[in-house]
Amino acid sequence: MPLPRAWYLEEAHFARELRMLQQRWLMVGHSSDLKLPGAYLCTQVAGRRIVVVRTAKLELAAFYDGCLHRRTALFDEGCGRKLELSVTCPYHGLRFDLDGVVDGSMAAAFNLEAGSRLPPVRVAERWGFLFVAPIDALDFDAAVGPVPPWFERAELAMLRRGRAQTYEVKANWKLCVQNFQESHHFRWVHPALEQLSPARESTSVSLGGQFLGGTMELAQGVETVASNGQREGRPFLAAASDRRTVFDALLFPCWMTSLQPDYLLSYRIEPRSAGQTRICAEIYFHGAAFHKSFSPTAVYDFWDRTNAEDRRIVELQQLGLAGAPFEPGPYVSSEDGVVAFDALLESALSEVA
Ligand code: FES
Ligand SMILES: [Fe+2]
Repeated sequence: MPLPRAWYLEEAHFARELRMLQQRWLMVGHSSDLKLPGAYLCTQVAGRRIVVVRTAKLELAAFYDGCLHRRTALFDEGCGRKLELSVTCPYHGLRFDLDGVVDGSMAAAFNLEAGSRLPPVRVAERWGFLFVAPIDALDFDAAVGPVPPWFERAELAMLRRGRAQTYEVKANWKLCVQNFQESHHFRWVHPALEQLSPARESTSVSLGGQFLGGTMELAQGVETVASNGQREGRPFLAAASDRRTVFDALLFPCWMTSLQPDYLLSYRIEPRSAGQTRICAEIYFHGAAFHKSFSPTAVYDFWDRTNAEDRRIVELQQLGLAGAPFEPGPYVSSEDGVVAFDALLESALSEVA
């Protein structure tokens, strides 16, 4: 059965989902932004404000972004670098090192114990991506379970970002994820994508953990998903056995990826309210693609159009859910990937009050 309509509309239910999201490993960025000591990324994650930094010892550390004095945010949102390897609160000047520990010479003046620190968060790096979770969470690998085998076969260590875009969608976050979980809408929503990777050639892949997978075969004569269908000399990312197939993977709940022969799409879903979602959409290529004749335009154009098509359809779905006071109809068999997402969601929600 589909999830109740109220789960897409009511802020009280959204608050419960946020509590669930705050318990899990969530993707926040890519390690290429944190190469140098002092580099940081500060972002909103499941309603919290989290900073990941590269410390003086070149380790990764993560903590909540709120000063120990009166909780002023310390970092600007986005990526940056603290050359002095410390951060000073803009309100009354309390200073912290990049492990989040308060400056020993200032602690007493703020009535803080020496060694007090910004509340830490767990951080893990996999395939070059950075993930955070609460400090008492299970290890990433134990929490996530089996990973898509195509991740292990692909050259993800070589990823370099081609483009990042952030956009707002006037729809519940679950509609964005469910839309990713089925290709039965291609014919109606994405006629161009249907030509390149027809929905009838799609399958769902069960991995048994927090990853859900799906595959689509490329149509004959199509080298990659781009407005011209051509790879234009860009090096492959996918393993030799995987180059006629598009491999989708959702890391429940909020990270969607799509491995194409020569690039990786990454969508980070950030729920903002019951009816509002922020999406950070990135396109990564093999690092060796970035030479003089690199021309990603046909890829970018294609996904500009396709992402806009998805945005429009989920916004229409949100309008219908809000405006028509009836429960959604039953799923059909090609929506097994949506059913799998809903089941993970219900199970995750059963663990929170
Ligand atoms: S709030 Fe940070 S020093 Fe006062
Ligand atoms: Fe779509």
